[in-house]
Amino acid sequence: MSIFYIMKSCSLFIALTYFSCFLVTPSHSQCFLSRHWSVYMYNGIPNSQIDVHVRSGDDDLGHHNITIDLGYKFSFCESIFDNTLFVGDFIDNSRSAHFHVFDRSIGEIIHCLIGGHADVYWLLKEDGYYLSREFKSDINDPTWMFRGNWE
Ligand SMILES: *[C@@H]1O[C@H](CO)[C@@H](O)[C@H](O)[C@H]1NC(C)=O
Repeated sequence: MSIFYIMKSCSLFIALTYFSCFLVTPSHSQCFLSRHWSVYMYNGIPNSQIDVHVRSGDDDLGHHNITIDLGYKFSFCESIFDNTLFVGDFIDNSRSAHFHVFDRSIGEIIHCLIGGHADVYWLLKEDGYYLSREFKSDINDPTWMFRGNWE
């Protein structure tokens, strides 16, 4: 069964039951037989602006500028097929980073029970990008887990 077919059957399921699959949702929804996630992205580099572009197979969330004060966030119900994937492209003045802002392995690191809600935090710093279960305003807090470098 192709990925494309799974996405289409998923969308059909939404239409029939009003149950969202990996539909982008309001912040505080509950997901039937699934998990509700909010993904936050922050720029920890002072006096800079980073262009964020998040996409999945079904959704293009457009371009957003993030700064140290103003992050970008989206929320969704995870697919019951465990195949939800959101990819983020980040562009600084002179460099870029491309990584999965949400997939099942990130979901496992953050952890969320079925029927529950959890937050995923990303922080882009001078030396790369970091992941956390909770938001720490101190960008050097060890809660931020290093995940990769700028390209
Ligand atoms: C981001 O900021 C730049 C420069 O200020 C601006 O040209 C661009 O339109 C902004 N992008 C978005 C998506 O707001």
